[in-house]
Amino acid sequence: MKKTVGNWVDGERFFDRDDDLLFLKESVQDGTNVLLTGQRRMGKTSLVRELLRDLRANDDTSTLFVDLEDARDPADAIVKIVSEARNSASLWEKVTQWLGGSLTQLVAEASYAEFKVALRAQIHTGNWKDKGDAVFETIAGKGDDQVVIAIDELSLLINHVLKGDDYQISGKGAGEAREFMAWLRRNCQMHRDRITMVVLGSVGLPPILRQAGLSATMNTFSNYELRPWDQQTASDCLAELATTYGLDLAVEVRRTMCQRLRACIPHHVQQYFDAVQRRLRLAGRTRASLHDVEEAYDNDMLGTRGRIDRDHYEDRLKLILGLKAYPLALEILARTARAGVWTAKDQLAYEDELQTLGEGGATTMSLVLDLLEHDGYLASHEDGYRFESGLLEDWQRVSLGLPPTRLNEGGR
Ligand SMILES: Nc1ncnc2c1ncn2[C@@H]1O[C@H](COP(=O)(O)OP(=O)(O)OP(=O)(O)O)[C@@H](O)[C@H]1O
Ligand SMILES: [Mg+2]
Repeated sequence: MKKTVGNWVDGERFFDRDDDLLFLKESVQDGTNVLLTGQRRMGKTSLVRELLRDLRANDDTSTLFVDLEDARDPADAIVKIVSEARNSASLWEKVTQWLGGSLTQLVAEASYAEFKVALRAQIHTGNWKDKGDAVFETIAGKGDDQVVIAIDELSLLINHVLKGDDYQISGKGAGEAREFMAWLRRNCQMHRDRITMVVLGSVGLPPILRQAGLSATMNTFSNYELRPWDQQTASDCLAELATTYGLDLAVEVRRTMCQRLRACIPHHVQQYFDAVQRRLRLAGRTRASLHDVEEAYDNDMLGTRGRIDRDHYEDRLKLILGLKAYPLALEILARTARAGVWTAKDQLAYEDELQTLGEGGATTMSLVLDLLEHDGYLASHEDGYRFESGLLEDWQRVSLGLPPTRLNEGGR
């Protein structure tokens, strides 16, 4: 198995997830539309890419993977769907017939980028719904063949449509988001015998829809949550990586790595392997000691790499929560990291503080906690909220000048 840190993986770079793949495959073949959720960097995009690869290779299903990260409005989304069809021979044949001569010729003669610009000029605010309906009709086709469409980062598009630059939901934005979600839902229902959808994103769609009162628009989707690897699976992944790169990671070394991460989010497992490998390379050794993995954790995972990653996580939080609620989220994460748990009493006390300062109340608090829980930062326990991931907790602790959790176990 080759390592990858950052981009989605499939094929020989893709590890485990057999049960998740099987469940998703059975669901889509059954015609169930799926909303795939899971914490950041859990491997959602990879899982769906691998699912589509498998469906194409083994079941002759046509597939379409649409990434809406850069889409700014519904018309952009439709353009994306049309242009992505290029990656599937059978769908592209149908789509080019629908597009007609001049646009198709552009693809043949000019660049793909020019084609997209020309297509975008034909699909706009005034006609995206009709064009979108026609595209779905075309993709669904007339035969019995099934098409699986995956839409990544739908939550970013909806968030963008809902909110202006001030991160506030506007009436116009809410109307447009409702229209888009209703359009998607209608098309799913209309073509349910032929088209099955999988929706996913780096931030959870449900909390965003709840903010705008649009939750009902997703009730034709069945939710599936992607969880971290268990410690054994993560350890097996580390063992495979070690074999590929000629390193010796003993069982107790791998166990310690998994314990540091606590929640074995695949991206963090790969990053940790990379950090240990770099350290060994510098030292000119191939066998990792317990000291090596602790040093790689403290200096690399919690060092520069950790800071960059944390910024990336926090940028997304800011994007979704907006300038008013975002500081609350940071404060809750900091207070939870400091005490190890965020109790109902802490919550009431903080709500009082905020009310006194006129900086938000129970509604903002419940929105923030909804997102922090849904997106996997905090998990609800009997005594309150706790961090799921040891790494995320340690990022917070280190930024507060506190030692990582393993050095503080007696101090809790
Ligand atoms: N099944 C897997 N096998 C090996 N590595 C994986 C797997 N899934 C995820 N990873 C690791 O996690 C990284 C991120 O994967 P991916 O982009 O699929 O996650 P994601 O959940 O879509 O992330 P985001 O929340 O940013 O959208 C990959 O670069 C890889 O290091
Ligand atoms: Mg992703």
